[in-house]
This record gives sequence, C-alpha cells and structure tokens, in this order.
Amino acid sequence: MQKNRIVFEWEEYDSIADLGNEEDRGLLLEARNATQHAFADFSNFRVGAAARVKGEKDIYYGSNQENASYPVGICAERALMASVASKFGSKKVIEVMAISYENANKGRKSNEPISPCGMCRQALVQYEGNTGHPIRLILSGKEGKVFIIKEANQLLPLGFDGSVL
Ligand code: THU
Repeated sequence: MQKNRIVFEWEEYDSIADLGNEEDRGLLLEARNATQHAFADFSNFRVGAAARVKGEKDIYYGSNQENASYPVGICAERALMASVASKFGSKKVIEVMAISYENANKGRKSNEPISPCGMCRQALVQYEGNTGHPIRLILSGKEGKVFIIKEANQLLPLGFDGSVL
C-alpha cells in the first residue's frame, strides 16, 4: 500500500489594490463589469468572467445565462471558453481568467471569492489540455479578498482527463 498526497497552494490578497500586477487588476475589474451581462433572473446570482487570450489585445467575456428550465443555464466560465474557442478554435490559449459575481439577493454580500463549479472545473481542465497551456485564475467578488490559482487543473485533483478513452 502506498499513500499519495496532493498539496494545493493558492495566493490570497486582502483586496484588488494588493495585486502586484496592473494587468491582473484590470482583468478583475473587467470580470466585475461583466456581471452586468449575466441573465440570472432565477438565482439573482450574476457571474462575470474575463480572459486574456494569447496574442490578442481584446479581452474576452462570459457571464452566466440562465433558463426557465434550470439545467439549461450555462455558467460564466464555460460561456467564456465556448466564446473564445468558437472565435479562434479550441487551441487558442487562454492565459488568465478572472471570475467575479454579484449576489443580488436581498441581504447577501458579494465580498468573498467564488471558485468554479465542478462542471466548469472539468471544462477548464479540458481547455488546458486542448491548448497545452495552464489557465491562471483570479477569483474575487465585487470587493474584498482575491485568490489567485496558478493552474485551473489544481482545482480538480485526480480528475478524469479522457486519456483512458
Ligand atoms: N455560476 C457561474 O456562472 N459560475 C460559477 O462559478 C458558479 C455558479 C452560476 C450558475 C447559476 O446561473 C448561478 O451562478 C447560481 O448557481
């Protein structure tokens, strides 16, 4: 018998002002703005994602798009990846993705980072595999703490990667 262990480290900053990198601050602001384009009438939880894409000046966006038939909705992260891959092809490198949200439900705050859901983690890992490049994640609410994760695949240890198919 052998015991295995995976250690996961991420960076935590008290606020956007503490981020050392101007580009990261800018991208997080873009993700915060992108929450405005969410369609979240059912959850009132508006998620925005913004990405820097290799070789492109433009920033690319995603937001959650819900549906009266709840499972039909798509998360901001997958909307963003689908948009980039649809424009440039599935090998187009996403270097950094910032994810933010606004919880518009009464009495709820938006000051803690959120982390991608399980389905998005699987999709992020697939995207990293398709491009052979890690996606750095910047996670934060409308305000407050910021988490930085070096590679999205760190969020899905021992995941299914399709190599057995
Ligand atoms: N959602 C995202 O878009 N991204 C996440 O990382 C977490 C959840 C969406 C799905 C749904 O529309 C709403 O947020 C509430 O779960």
